[in-house]
Amino acid sequence: VGDGRNVVSSVVSSQVDLHRRFGGVVPEIASRQHMKMMLPVVQEAFDEAGTSWDGVDAVAVTKGPGLAGALLVGVNTAKALALARGLPLLGVDHMEGHIYGNWLVPRADEAAAIRATVAGTPGENLDLASEPRFPLLCLIVSGGHTELVLARDHGDYALVGQTRDDAAGEAFDKVARLLGLSYPGGPSIQRAAEGGNPAAFALPRGMGQGGYEFSFSGLKTAVARIVEKQGEVDLADMAASFEQAVADVLVSKTVTAARKLGVRQIALAGGVAANLRLRRLLCERSPVPVRIPPLRFCTDNAAMIGSAAYYRLRRDERSDMSLDVYPSLRLV
Ligand code: KG4
Ligand code: ZN
Repeated sequence: VGDGRNVVSSVVSSQVDLHRRFGGVVPEIASRQHMKMMLPVVQEAFDEAGTSWDGVDAVAVTKGPGLAGALLVGVNTAKALALARGLPLLGVDHMEGHIYGNWLVPRADEAAAIRATVAGTPGENLDLASEPRFPLLCLIVSGGHTELVLARDHGDYALVGQTRDDAAGEAFDKVARLLGLSYPGGPSIQRAAEGGNPAAFALPRGMGQGGYEFSFSGLKTAVARIVEKQGEVDLADMAASFEQAVADVLVSKTVTAARKLGVRQIALAGGVAANLRLRRLLCERSPVPVRIPPLRFCTDNAAMIGSAAYYRLRRDERSDMSLDVYPSLRLV
């Protein structure tokens, strides 16, 4: 990443196919795959960027939260590279990385694709090109996290709300399994929901009175009960109703918080930010411009970690060789 915003190469070695037959991530397989792919991926990133170590100012790496085994491979590789090359090392919080996915400049075709996903919503309330503005309200929705974070400035965060139980992505993955759809559940449910009626099933909106807290386990149970009771349900209708319930809760709370906190923009982050219904609903209801990263920067990637590290490096922050992994790290 150049200057915090320009992606010169982005290489992702996806393990989704390896984990699919187990219906979720298997930690041992994940760390072994990290070992196998780490150096080839670093080399590929150099090739794609058309540069060498001479063009590098610092090495950034995810220090947590995440699976210890996978994190260890990353952190130790980064330490070795930084030490060998005499470069500054920066350990980055994975969730902060997801926020910085919004700083990465999308390609023209990607910006057009994002605009197309919200076309027809009132206002088409998007900001994709300029640098994000503080105070910024970030809705981070991934497989492991559902958090509303207020970013007052670079590195200055406050937790507004979070999930009490399942993460939004986890709910997608679990409900997909219930409906006999493949892992990862988000894309499968979105595909299945095409043409479905989002009002076909009355599903609960968890923590309706719960301020900015979220809950998705009741929603998953409600889907399970209906499937159990009716034996067979219309898949498109159920998938659409489920998506609508998740998006409705996420957007309602985000929009209320945005008004209350007087933020200048709302940023979507994490794998679930890929969801079309969520994007459209947010652009429809948001009182301020919405930022949505392109798909490849919504799901896990290294460029977002590089961007977060750039702004820390600019504030003269560094990690040293005692950098460890923090599987349960919390941003705020
Ligand atoms: O951020 P991420 O790539 O990985 C971490 O969990 O850190 O997020 C993965 C999650 C999975 O639960 C996946 O089902 C969900 O993002 N996801 C989606 C969509 N694409 C991926 N959820 C809803 N709609 C999608 N289109
Ligand atoms: Zn993630």
